[in-house]
Amino acid sequence: MIRLLTIIGARPQIIKAAAISRAIKAYYADQIEECILHTGQHYDANMSSIFFDELGIPQPNYNLKVGSSSHGIQTSRIIEGVEDVLNNAKKEGNPFDGVLVYGDTNSTLAATLAAAKIHTPVFHIEAGLRSFNMTMPEEINRIVCDQLSNILFTPTSTGLRNLQQEGFSANGIKERVRFSNNKKQKVVLSGDIMYDNSMYFGSIAEKKSDIMQRLNLSYRNFVLATIHRPSNTDNKENLQSIFTALLDISDNEQIDIVLPLHPRTHKILSLQLPQKILDRISDNKRLKIIPPASFLEMICLEKKARIVMTDSGGVQKESFFFQTPCVILRPETEWVEIVESGAGIIADADYQRIMRAYTELVEKKVHFQSIFGDGHASEMILKEIINFYKQK
Ligand code: UD1
Repeated sequence: MIRLLTIIGARPQIIKAAAISRAIKAYYADQIEECILHTGQHYDANMSSIFFDELGIPQPNYNLKVGSSSHGIQTSRIIEGVEDVLNNAKKEGNPFDGVLVYGDTNSTLAATLAAAKIHTPVFHIEAGLRSFNMTMPEEINRIVCDQLSNILFTPTSTGLRNLQQEGFSANGIKERVRFSNNKKQKVVLSGDIMYDNSMYFGSIAEKKSDIMQRLNLSYRNFVLATIHRPSNTDNKENLQSIFTALLDISDNEQIDIVLPLHPRTHKILSLQLPQKILDRISDNKRLKIIPPASFLEMICLEKKARIVMTDSGGVQKESFFFQTPCVILRPETEWVEIVESGAGIIADADYQRIMRAYTELVEKKVHFQSIFGDGHASEMILKEIINFYKQK
């Protein structure tokens, strides 16, 4: 039996872990035993526990409860906690054979460092993504994780190309033997587990969620927006431009705007926006600011919106899966295929660019090609992990 420790911490990781847990249960329960460690990076019920219930993920075996703090403190607390869990399991004679990490958060970085230092193999899901913007904490996290991982599962061919440019050889195997267990690093183009999830939960969401009725929304007749990146929330000018654009779109087009608000944005809103914009927000009945949505609610909204406007990586992708065009509220994206296909436009936090992108996407006919795999990335990932332990 292969014992894997899955690390989750931030909201999107809990959602991603659902795809792998489901595939283990369905196909590999006789070969893989999964334990889940929640770092506690996200801790509000609507950022964390709601997803376990809704997506049927087993409750975490460990919870480090690190909560929010500076990057240094948050990361170091997780390193310490993960190291303890791995070492204790060894002492008890029931060691973990590998650690599964997702994405690019401080939880991903810290768990990777802890595991690599005590020679526990690391499998990185969502490897190879780059924004080439080193001011993003996520960019630093993902570069370090890729260097230290045994298998790098990359979701797209752009991810594969990025890794090749960083010295991973063309067939995906780095020539140097880098690990104490004599294994070479391997890159696998796996497809995207978020696509697996969206396909799996797409129709369930429509049956189970009543968010459209609750918010009185009609099909393709509202905008879905999310804002949480520090580059937007912590910068007054950016946040003001985004909110002015949202308010003007809703006024000019007489269209509803749904904004599930991340706690980071919620806490900072009244400090960052001038009274004039805050008044416009409270006067505007079409701007519906709601608490963070559950995954099923989010899927429903992404499926039915006319346009999505977001600075989230995951929401960009999910709107693409559901054929909804997307205005990207960041200066760049890791999901360049979405932009190349014409389904997304990078507008940053620039008022004029946001307004132009909205008009262009509403007017043009967008074609959505298949970019993110076949909806079975999880099975491929688990097969590769099993093979890793079979190879001598
Ligand atoms: C983190 C990830 C980001 C990911 C995002 C998804 C890093 C560096 N960033 O960003 O890549 O896209 O999660 O949501 O790891 N807060 C709460 N309740 C919670 C969680 C957070 O109130 O349950 C507040 C805290 O005030 C905290 C702030 O949100 O200071 C930010 O949380 P943090 O975990 O630092 O990063 P995110 O912005 O969520």
